[in-house]
Amino acid sequence: MNDVIVVASGKGGTGKSTVCVGLSAALVKQNKSVLLIDCDCGMRGIDLMLDAEEEILFDCSDAVSGNCTPREAVYRSRNMPSLHLMAAPFDTDNEISPSVFKQLVDDLKNSYDYVIIDSPAGVGSGFATAAAPADRALIVTNAEPTSLRGAVKIRTKLIAVGISDIRLVINRFDRKQFEKLGCYRDLDEVIDKAGTRLIALVPLDLRLSCMMQNGCAGLNWSPAVTVFDCLSRRLQGEKVELAFEG
Ligand SMILES: Nc1ncnc2c1ncn2[C@@H]1O[C@H](COP(=O)(O)OP(=O)(O)OP(=O)(O)O)[C@@H](O)[C@H]1O
Ligand SMILES: [Mg+2]
Repeated sequence: MNDVIVVASGKGGTGKSTVCVGLSAALVKQNKSVLLIDCDCGMRGIDLMLDAEEEILFDCSDAVSGNCTPREAVYRSRNMPSLHLMAAPFDTDNEISPSVFKQLVDDLKNSYDYVIIDSPAGVGSGFATAAAPADRALIVTNAEPTSLRGAVKIRTKLIAVGISDIRLVINRFDRKQFEKLGCYRDLDEVIDKAGTRLIALVPLDLRLSCMMQNGCAGLNWSPAVTVFDCLSRRLQGEKVELAFEG
């Protein structure tokens, strides 16, 4: 079995990369093999979250341009051996076309249970490339109007590229802040506005942010880590409750 999931958002900074790493670490804990691809070409960050910055020799643009084989562009995480990372290039000029990227992922995906693709924000060419190989999608949003507008837009674009299995992750949720903002009656209104079924509600969790920024993702416990465990089970079709309900 293999499953290719793109993680996208209309607006930047909603937490896509964090969700990608948290979800990948959770899948690995459940004995799944995961290829995590940072497709945010020009703005890579997942190597930092996995403390792999110094060890990345090649990236996905090297793999498609023939500088290395696809397998040579895959970094094997020290801390989580079943989590493999393909980094994004720093060089924005080196854009990868959707068809070339799809071929790259198609060549690798049979070696993994899951391929998780971190999309750049927005609906531009970087998104089109990231989405091209995917069977399904997670939209990451925050519970605020500007972010939700992006969620609605990205959903339309995902459907336009043929992805209909789409679920919503509301990230960085804090009940007090939500009520102070006063933009929505309740979370049901947020989900209705997004027009996408919820699969996870991730709390605002500064411990999670510290872990990601310090390159020790997946090693420690934090409230959001429990949610990522639950998200990974729900993605596998298990009927488990949301670990956090706000
Ligand atoms: N649940 C959370 N609780 C607290 N902080 C979070 C949470 N999720 C993400 N963050 C923080 O929010 C910031 C943005 O997260 P991240 O880089 O994952 O977003 P992104 O959507 O990938 O951004 P970009 O669009 O720039 O790629 C980071 O500082 C991250 O640590
Ligand atoms: Mg990101």
